[in-house]
Amino acid sequence: MGRVIAIDGPSGAGKSTVAKLLAGMLGFNYLDTGALYRAAALGLRRKGITPEDTDERLSEALGGISVVFSGGRVFLDGEDVSEEIRTPEAGHYSSVFSARMPVRDFLLPVQRDAAQNNDLVAEGRDMSTVVFPDAWKKFYMDANIEERAKRRHLQLQQGGVSVSMENAREDVIGRDKRDTSRDIAPLRVAESAVFIDSSDMPLEEVINKMLGVVRSETARRGAGG
Ligand code: DC
Repeated sequence: MGRVIAIDGPSGAGKSTVAKLLAGMLGFNYLDTGALYRAAALGLRRKGITPEDTDERLSEALGGISVVFSGGRVFLDGEDVSEEIRTPEAGHYSSVFSARMPVRDFLLPVQRDAAQNNDLVAEGRDMSTVVFPDAWKKFYMDANIEERAKRRHLQLQQGGVSVSMENAREDVIGRDKRDTSRDIAPLRVAESAVFIDSSDMPLEEVINKMLGVVRSETARRGAGG
C-alpha cells in the first residue's frame, strides 16, 4: 500500500484542480472518485436501471459492469466516458445512485486498488473517513455556496452546457444536501483532517498550504521523530 493523500469536500470546492496539481508536483498518482461514481451511474442507466429499482437489481446490473480510472480518464466497460459523465444528467444520477449501498460496495475495491502499488492523491466525499481511514494525510476542502455556484456555472459553460447562475446554485445546494444527509458514507470532516476554506484563497496559496502540511510531516519523519 502506497502513501495516500485523501481530499474530501463538497462539489465545487476545487478538489479536482488541487488534487491533480498536488499529485503532479509530488509524483503521486491521481484518483478522481467522483468520476468513478459518475461512470457507474452511467453504466446503470445504460442497463435501464432507475433510482426506484431495488438493491438486488442494482447489484445484479453492477455485476456486469467494469469501471476503471487510468491516466486521468475514466473507462466504462473499456470505453472512455470521461466527457459523457460530465453532463448535468450524469451528475444528477451519480449523486442519486451514490447513496446506494450496492454502488458504494462495488466501487470500494476499485478505489483501494488504486493505492495498492502507488502513492496516491485521492479526492471525493469519503476518502478520509471510509475508503482510506488510515490515509497518510487528510484534507477537507470547502468554499462558500456563492463561490462554489460560480465555479459550477463556469464549469458547465466551459463544457458547452448553458444554465443560469440560479440553476447552478440550486444544483450545488441539492447535491450538498444529498451528500451530507445520506445514511451511508455521508460527507463529513474527518477528525484529523486539515480544513481548508478556498473561498477567498488563490489556488497557489491552497497548494502551498497543502505542500507545507505534507512536507512538514516528511521533515519530521526524516528527522527521526
Ligand atoms: O465529485 P463529483 O461531483 O464528480 O461526484 C459525483 C457524485 O458522486 C457526487 O454527487 C457525490 C458522489 N461521490 C460520492 O458519493 N463519494 C465519493 N467519494 C465521490 C463522489
